[in-house]
Parts: sequence; C-alpha cells; structure tokens
Amino acid sequence: MATLILTTRDGSIKPIEAETGLTVMEIIRDSGADELLAICGGCCSCATCHVYVAPAFVERMSAVGDDESDLLDSSDYRQAHSRLACQLQFTAELDGLEVTLAPEG
Ligand code: FES
Repeated sequence: MATLILTTRDGSIKPIEAETGLTVMEIIRDSGADELLAICGGCCSCATCHVYVAPAFVERMSAVGDDESDLLDSSDYRQAHSRLACQLQFTAELDGLEVTLAPEG
C-alpha cells in the first residue's frame, strides 16, 4: 500500500491508501471521487480522467504517449503537468503522489 493525495475540484485534499499496480484513475475512481468520470474505462479515448501531477513527481512518471498527448490537446485546460490518470501506473516509488483533478472539459 502507498498513499496518493488527491485534490478535488472544490479544493478538498483527500489522502487515499491505495494498492500499487493499479492505475491512478482506478484508485481515484474506486475511492468514490465521482468527479472523475473515466468514461472509456481506461482505454485512453475520453480524457475524462485528466489530472495535474505535482511538479515533484513528474520526473518519476512514464513519458506522455502520443495518443495521450492528442487527447490532452482536446482539453481547454491542458497544462505542463497534465496527464490522463488511466495512463499512470501507481508504483511504490510514487508513494505520496499528489494529483489534482483538472476542470471538466
Ligand atoms: S479513462 Fe478515458 S482516457 Fe482515461
């Protein structure tokens, strides 16, 4: 188990104890955060799992894939540290990972 720290759209900070080996999207969804729609179920085709990763963790992440980048480009809210949570594997090295839900759209 490791901790993921989620900031929701209303600014609430929610620590989540999570199993490693899941994706960040699965962890957030399973925690009951219904703001994260994840409509495509993690197939990298909807962009409704858009999050911002805290700068301190960006270097530890896998690179943004081409499909992921194209989908992020469809958002009006893409920022430098934007990721699709379904494309991020939560590993023990990411203990303490801080992510913020991006605005819808
Ligand atoms: S859940 Fe659809 S792109 Fe991540």
